[in-house]
Amino acid sequence: MITLDNIHKSFGDNHVLRGVDLHVARGTSMVIIGGSGTGKSIAIKTILGLVTPEKGTITVDGQDVSQTGDRDAFLARFGMLFQGAALFDSLPVWQNVAFRLLRGSLARPKAEAHEIAIEKLRRVGLTPDVADRLPAELSGGMQKRVGLARAIAAEPEIIFFDEPTTGLDPIMAGVINDLIREIVTEMGATTMTITHDMTSVRTIADNVAMLHGGKIRWTGPVADIDAATDPYVDQFIHGRAEGPIETVR
Ligand SMILES: Nc1ncnc2c1ncn2[C@@H]1O[C@H](COP(=O)(O)OP(=O)(O)OP(=O)(O)O)[C@@H](O)[C@H]1O
Ligand SMILES: [Mg+2]
Repeated sequence: MITLDNIHKSFGDNHVLRGVDLHVARGTSMVIIGGSGTGKSIAIKTILGLVTPEKGTITVDGQDVSQTGDRDAFLARFGMLFQGAALFDSLPVWQNVAFRLLRGSLARPKAEAHEIAIEKLRRVGLTPDVADRLPAELSGGMQKRVGLARAIAAEPEIIFFDEPTTGLDPIMAGVINDLIREIVTEMGATTMTITHDMTSVRTIADNVAMLHGGKIRWTGPVADIDAATDPYVDQFIHGRAEGPIETVR
């Protein structure tokens, strides 16, 4: 469903992505792990066309993403949870969740969009009374969950989750991990999730890819990760301070 072939992206002399190759099969859940600042968020943004790589090819469902004529139709296939939630601060919660259902190719009647927003809020553990509040009136973890509800609201085929459990308590993190797994298993969505949380990795992933040094250092089925002999993977999954990954960058 998603293929990245030799993707390069630099910011000035900061060569973030140095030839990323990655393949995500339809209806599977890929989890991206890797140290802070290695380019995980940038990699996802290149797929959506929010960041343009200098080199390489990205295809979604066989289509080169740099050649998409109708951007609205292309983006309608995706949901995205941004790392910082990125809610519209002047819109009430429900309009954030239903954003995509209130305009463009996915627009539907306002009452229906509202009803879907309330349902999606419930899926992420939020009660209807938050629907009319502004994002600034919510805690960080609640904002994160509103971002999640927005990402799944239009039931897209492909969903990206950037740090879905960061800032959540362990119980709510478990609820969100289960939700992401359900979206893949029951709705057949193709998902890519970035996380530092090994519990999330084990709950969500079919396959795991580790980004390091601008490339995919290791990739394989989640069941293989504990037996991986790669010292970078070993250091990362065990959270060891000692190892090949430098802790001062
Ligand atoms: N718009 C930008 N302009 C310049 N540099 C950027 C920009 N966005 C990201 N970078 C740089 O690209 C690198 C990778 O950033 P990215 O956000 O992808 O990291 P990450 O792997 O998601 O890290 P984290 O786990 O901390 O979220 C960093 O060095 C960052 O400073
Ligand atoms: Mg990031």
